[in-house]
Formats: sequence, structure tokens, C-alpha cells
Amino acid sequence: MTEKFLVIDDDPGFCTMLTRVLSDEGYRVDKALGGEEAIEKIRNEFFDILILDIKMPKIDGIEVMKRLREIQRGKEESDVIIITGFISETTPIEALRLGAVDYIMKPFEIKDFLHSIERNVKIIRLKRERNIYIGELSETNEKLKQTINELKNTRDKLIYSERLAAIGKVASGVGHDLRNLLGIIENASFLLKSSFKTKNTKINKYFSILYKALQESKKTLDDLLHFSKERKIEKAKISLKSLLQEGLDIVPLKSNIKTKMKIPSTIGSIYVDPLRMKQVLRNIISNAAQSMPKGGKISINTKSKNNHVKIEINDTGSGIDKKHLKNIFEPFFTTKTKGIGLGLAVAKEIIEKHNGKIEVKSKINKGSTFIIHLPTQGN
Ligand SMILES: Nc1ncnc2c1ncn2[C@@H]1O[C@H](COP(=O)(O)OP(=O)(O)O)[C@@H](O)[C@H]1O
Ligand SMILES: [Mg+2]
Repeated sequence: MTEKFLVIDDDPGFCTMLTRVLSDEGYRVDKALGGEEAIEKIRNEFFDILILDIKMPKIDGIEVMKRLREIQRGKEESDVIIITGFISETTPIEALRLGAVDYIMKPFEIKDFLHSIERNVKIIRLKRERNIYIGELSETNEKLKQTINELKNTRDKLIYSERLAAIGKVASGVGHDLRNLLGIIENASFLLKSSFKTKNTKINKYFSILYKALQESKKTLDDLLHFSKERKIEKAKISLKSLLQEGLDIVPLKSNIKTKMKIPSTIGSIYVDPLRMKQVLRNIISNAAQSMPKGGKISINTKSKNNHVKIEINDTGSGIDKKHLKNIFEPFFTTKTKGIGLGLAVAKEIIEKHNGKIEVKSKINKGSTFIIHLPTQGN
């Protein structure tokens, strides 16, 4: 398409003459008999070049230029060639200052006029080409940035998986022996407690400390061992209610922490790996408990819909800082002095292996809710 012109002159004869000259050259041309009409047209349509008479009654050429800049602010701009009557006028200088690209003095020869037009059209075309190149360049730049980001992500993941593999190796070396030893300690302390039935609160307190420490050690060990080898999910049918109850029961909770579980009777069984899912629940519930050192409430709610179940575990604890939200599922991310930061990473992986997902909502000093979505049929 050829460039589109708008000839603006209050002298109808002159205006028509210039319009004809330009259309004879093959350009698309429109005309405006004065400033007002010109502004109206510029508002509705884009013109590549305005041929603008400076001296016009009411709205003169300078005013037209000012309005043009306002209308086209932030958009593609028209080029302006001004036509001026007297050499002594200072307005052409003002027009050039306002961004006019050229000016032609009246009276002029048609061939000089056309020469100026041709030159400016050439410049416009070059400008357009340049803009296309700039557009392409910034697109390439954007793509490059994306690739660099992807590379960084891949590198981070590689570093993680290498760290995890290393942890897994160490864990599998000692983990199984440790687990057996913990089992022996657990059994022995259970036997000790039952053959020692006493009302002595001090002794009972020590038993409960021992029990808590044992559960904590088992949890840490399980999380570490999770990375020791490719773990297969072994699914079985289990009642969701008993799964949640068992998950709650393995976490030793202080008496200042209340629990509430709401399960609609319509939710029956679900098809998951019970051991792994209990590990998930234990990790989330023990985080909830740790976030409420002064006590609080843990509520578990479930809903099911179209072969999917949603499990919400809510606490009234410290909440999670916004800046940490994106990191909490990363392995080794912890804000606790004695944390190892594997609990949520393990939970997320297990849930994803069940084709589910986990989300979190949290408000500082109000509490957090972890939401687990799972398919009930296990597919
Ligand atoms: N219920 C919660 N309330 C507050 N913060 C939490 C909660 N659950 C997780 N977090 C945050 O997420 C981090 C990672 O949790 P996790 O992976 O279990 O590792 P760890 O418990 O060893 O720190 C915690 O250190 C804590 O900052
Ligand atoms: Mg934890």
C-alpha cells in the first residue's frame, strides 16, 4: 500500500490542486479545508504524511501540530511537511521545533514539491523497515532471555537432583540399620512403659518425651530415605477417614493443640499408597503443630467431586511469609533452626506421583491451609 497523505489548506483551489498532484503520483490522498476539519480526520484515521499550511484562520498550522502530537502520543506518528508563505515568518522554525520534517516555501514549482515528497516518502519507508528490524531484534532478545531462564532452571534442577542423589546414597547406607535400631528402641520403650505402669507424672513425662523424639526421628529418617531410591507407589484401597485419622495419630501433639476433622459420609474409600500418604499427612500435620508453639487448632476438611477428593489441612499458627511461599516445597528449604526442609518436598513428590497436586494458602499470624487434590480412583 502506498503512503496516505492529508493536505490541509484553507484555500480550496490550492488544496484541490495539491491533492490532485499527489493522487496523480499514485498516492492515497485526503484533504481538509482548515485546522478543525484536519483534527477531526486525524482523530479518526492515520495519515503517513500531512501537508500542512501554516497560515490558516481559527486553528493555524502550529496549533494543528500541537494537537496532532497530543492525539498521537505513544502511538505511531505522522510526518509533517509544512507550507509557508513568507520567508520572514518565525513560525516555520517553531513548526520544525515541533517536529516537522520539511518545509516548502510558497510559491513553489510542482517538481520541487514532488521532489520533497519523494525524499520524505523514502525516509518514511526506511523508518518503517528500521522499526521492523527493531521489533524482530527485541523478539529475539526476549527469546534469548527465555532460553537463559530455562537453562538456569534446568541447572538448578540438576544441582538439586544431584544433591538429593547424594543425600539418598548416604541415607540408604545407614538408614535401614538406623530404622531397625529405632524399631528396637520403640519396642523396648513400649514394653518398659507397659510393665512400669505408674502414676508418677515425672516418669510418664519422660516416656512421652521419648515417644515424641522417636516419632520425630522416624519421620526424618523416612523423609531422607524417600530420596534413596526410585520409590514405586503401591496403591491399595483405603477408607479416607481412617487414613486421615492414622495420619493425625502418628504426630504427637501437645495438649494445647486441638484437632477437628470433618469428613462427609459420602466420602468412602480412596485408592492410594497408604504408607506414602500417611507420610504426607504426618509431614503437613507436624509442620502445622510446629507453627503453633503456644497452641491452636488443626482442622481437617474434605470434599469430593467427580472422582476427585480435596483435603484441606488448616492451622491457626504463624503463617508463612509471602517471600517464602514459592520456596517451601523445595528440598532443603527450611526456616527452622533444627529443620532439614524435606517434609514438604517429599509430600509434593508423593502427591504428584498420585497424579494429584498440593497448594497452600497462608496469612501471617493467622495460619496456613495446605490443600491436597487427589483422584479417588488412583488413575
Ligand atoms: N503450617 C505451616 N505454618 C508455617 N510455616 C510452614 C508450615 N508448613 C511449612 N512451613 C514452612 O515451610 C518450611 C518447609 O517445611 P518442611 O519442608 O516441612 O521443612 P522443615 O519442617 O524441616 O522446615 C518450613 O521451614 C516453614 O518455614
Ligand atoms: Mg517439616
